[in-house]
Amino acid sequence: MSILLTGGAGYIGSHTAVELLNKGKDLVIIDDFSNSNEKALDAIKKITGKDFKFYKMDYKDREKLEKVFEENQIDAVINFAGFKAVGESVSKPIEYYTNNVSGALVLLDTMRKYNCKKFIFSSSATVYGEPERIPLTEECRVGGTTNPYGNTKLFIEQILKDIYNSDNTWDICILRYFNPVGSHESGLIGEEPQGIPNNLMPYIVRVASGKLEQLSVFGNDYETHDGTGVRDYIHVVDLAKGHVKALEKIDKEGQGIYIYNLGTGTGYSVLDMVNAFEKSTGKKVNYRITDRRPGDIAVCYADPKKAKEELGWIAEKKLEDMCKDSWNYIIKNS
Ligand code: UD1
Repeated sequence: MSILLTGGAGYIGSHTAVELLNKGKDLVIIDDFSNSNEKALDAIKKITGKDFKFYKMDYKDREKLEKVFEENQIDAVINFAGFKAVGESVSKPIEYYTNNVSGALVLLDTMRKYNCKKFIFSSSATVYGEPERIPLTEECRVGGTTNPYGNTKLFIEQILKDIYNSDNTWDICILRYFNPVGSHESGLIGEEPQGIPNNLMPYIVRVASGKLEQLSVFGNDYETHDGTGVRDYIHVVDLAKGHVKALEKIDKEGQGIYIYNLGTGTGYSVLDMVNAFEKSTGKKVNYRITDRRPGDIAVCYADPKKAKEELGWIAEKKLEDMCKDSWNYIIKNS
């Protein structure tokens, strides 16, 4: 029996592949490299010393996907094949809805056809919109997403709930990621945003390395301890381990739809991140304060209690590891 990872060469997919292979799981990975690189596949093999089956293909290609299910005994699917750039989603809504929503539907329909009903979905804290309260629990109101990317996450969550309601032999786990940063300690896999990054940590490392001149800190007049936005940054290796636990849960218990926040439960501000990065790497980050970024919220961090109680999962890595490992990847890959 194998686990199918769609988008398994990407940032979170590749880290999860490593953790699953380390646990002795058999994997089938599919990826079209639209936002990833072939070298991640060799890196996964190098880190783990293990092999897996790979198909270069678009996960929306029904014919090819059926072939994957014909040729392999797929027991469960983890879907990492979503587009994830917020700004790009605003200018390319059709591409985002097609890839993320239609793609998920092709995948789920194919799974049903082959009677494979274990599914783990990469959702996001973005589904909470303007937080009802902090820290965010899984019961907090969802909705009020402000861009197509966020809408796709919200829509797919709803689709999954409807699928489960129609057929409760599915085992579905929705993982709401907070802000993933860092990379595997080997520096062999990591995040490679195309063009100028939108997210904070990739921007910080590029300013520190001299690739970008200056970080714009988007607003210092929020109601936070230093006025800058507060988020729940989580090391990608911890996040990847959350998927292993989610898989164990649906393997063991089965037949349910579960939702978990994957965050640390601690919020850090933009300036906390700059200071922590400078302290742990010895590198200076040139920054200036600018206007707020439209659509940003002041504070967002998780209550990770449910994942601890029901999955036996907690984020273990510290902010220092997140900064050091983000930097290590840049040094080794530029
Ligand atoms: C963003 C997305 C969210 C997505 C997540 C993926 C928005 C509004 N939200 O979350 O939907 O799930 O990425 O990781 O885009 N910041 C700066 N300067 C920068 C970049 C960021 O000051 O150059 C600040 C932001 O204002 C924010 C914090 O850093 O306070 C984190 O920003 P970012 O990394 O973009 O993540 P989110 O906005 O939390």
